[in-house]
Amino acid sequence: MTIVPGANGSANPAAAIAYHDTLAEGWARRYESGGFKRRAEFFLHEVLPRAAVGGRWLDIGCGSGVFSRMLAAAGAKVTGVDGSAAMIEAARAIPSSGASPRYEVETIETLARAGDGYDGALFLSVLEYLDDPKGALAAVAERLRPDGLLILSAPNRRSGLRLLQRSLRALSSIFGSRAFPYLETSKGAWSHGELIALATGAGLPCEAALGFDPVAPRSLWPVVSPSLWFLLCRKGAAAC
Ligand SMILES: C[S@@+](CC[C@H](N)C(=O)[O-])C[C@H]1O[C@@H](n2cnc3c(N)ncnc32)[C@H](O)[C@@H]1O
Repeated sequence: MTIVPGANGSANPAAAIAYHDTLAEGWARRYESGGFKRRAEFFLHEVLPRAAVGGRWLDIGCGSGVFSRMLAAAGAKVTGVDGSAAMIEAARAIPSSGASPRYEVETIETLARAGDGYDGALFLSVLEYLDDPKGALAAVAERLRPDGLLILSAPNRRSGLRLLQRSLRALSSIFGSRAFPYLETSKGAWSHGELIALATGAGLPCEAALGFDPVAPRSLWPVVSPSLWFLLCRKGAAAC
């Protein structure tokens, strides 16, 4: 498979995929504790119940399939796709308590080719790695049936945690190291309004938006800017 790096000097799809290749082996284990576990629990208990899960779902940038398996356990027939062959290999090796998802190596860029009428799609923590987020969202919209649901997550540009990580990364570079290596390829971040506008512009108006922070106590979420947005977007619906 040939992936053409982005020409605009922003996120580079080949670099983001190569980076995740190196993380694939331990990716699912990250969800056993800490902020990853809290994010997965938030998704399971607070995001997923807002969706009528059933029919055929696509998990785009599925990694090692943690969320694909949650969807399958909730009753959906799931296809997980990811540009990282190592992530897909890891996903295939993990059993599912529901019907096993099907996993395929496929990039967002090749997704644009077909419209498959999926009932729903997950697009979790992937958008920020892409050169053309709007084009990617339009490609996802193409894969959904009319009224199909997209569950999207992406970083908040105003998150204090992300700003802190960026500052520490800049500081560490003075001493010859690079803290928070994911920031090398994770470039995109959006305010609440920007993310909603981006999805709406791609034909996916938002019907619910939730903030989540893996570090700040929940009581502080109304006052701190959370690190992540979860949007539920319905193809063809009125904007929220
Ligand atoms: C931060 S991980 C998120 C994985 C999973 N959605 C999760 O939340 O655990 C980002 C994933 O996006 C994939 N990815 C990045 N760029 C991609 C592209 N252009 N096409 C397909 N997958 C891509 C990476 O290989 C990686 O598995």
